[in-house]
Amino acid sequence: MSNTETYLESLLSSRKIVRNYKKVNFDKNSLDKISNYIIKIPTAGFSRGIEVVQVFNKNTIENISNLLNEKKFTEQGKSPWISHSVALFFIVLNENAYHERYSKGDKEKAVNSNDWDVPYWFIDAGAAMMNCMLLLEEKKLSSGFMGLHNTNRKSFHKLLNIPQDYLIIGMITAGVEKKTNMKSPDKIQKKKLIHNEKFSK
Ligand SMILES: Cc1cc2nc3c(=O)[nH]c(=O)nc-3n(C[C@H](O)[C@H](O)[C@H](O)COP(=O)(O)O)c2cc1C
Repeated sequence: MSNTETYLESLLSSRKIVRNYKKVNFDKNSLDKISNYIIKIPTAGFSRGIEVVQVFNKNTIENISNLLNEKKFTEQGKSPWISHSVALFFIVLNENAYHERYSKGDKEKAVNSNDWDVPYWFIDAGAAMMNCMLLLEEKKLSSGFMGLHNTNRKSFHKLLNIPQDYLIIGMITAGVEKKTNMKSPDKIQKKKLIHNEKFSK
């Protein structure tokens, strides 16, 4: 943390996606309240359609790594990722909560949630993801994110008892980084992402 950085700025600066974790014994009690803060997000219309399924059980984590074919990757020489996680956090979307909320009288004049040009539930899910990653960073844990594309989604619903009408947005992994000697990729070209007063190329 540099002298000029605030604590939040230092968490934001140090957070990065980490996909290789050490096998560690971790006291899950230190994470027992984390989900209360993960879901401390603003939601469109206060619909509260973003939920979290926290997984600490070692066998369940192992089952999830099997569903994601981790063995195939470790056989190719990649480091274990999911199986060495100390916890997994699934961000799940109850889209119906948004439609129900926006069908209420006080939202009569609002654009119908089925017609939103920006589906606000994805914004809310991203906010929960970022809360989770920063909370883990604060606990000196690294985090990663895994989407469920290319997987059999039904098997995740079944394993975690998630209702079929919910959408699993993705999974945040928590673990202790295993430092490797792997060469970091060539310096990523700088991209202009901040525009001062007006958009400019
Ligand atoms: C919405 C979202 C989806 C992602 N999906 C995956 C994924 O399925 N698998 C994966 O290995 N990384 C995934 N990532 C991580 C990114 O590929 C990449 O590692 C990240 O943008 C690097 O950020 P960092 O430089 O801040 O660590 C995802 C990230 C986000 C935000």
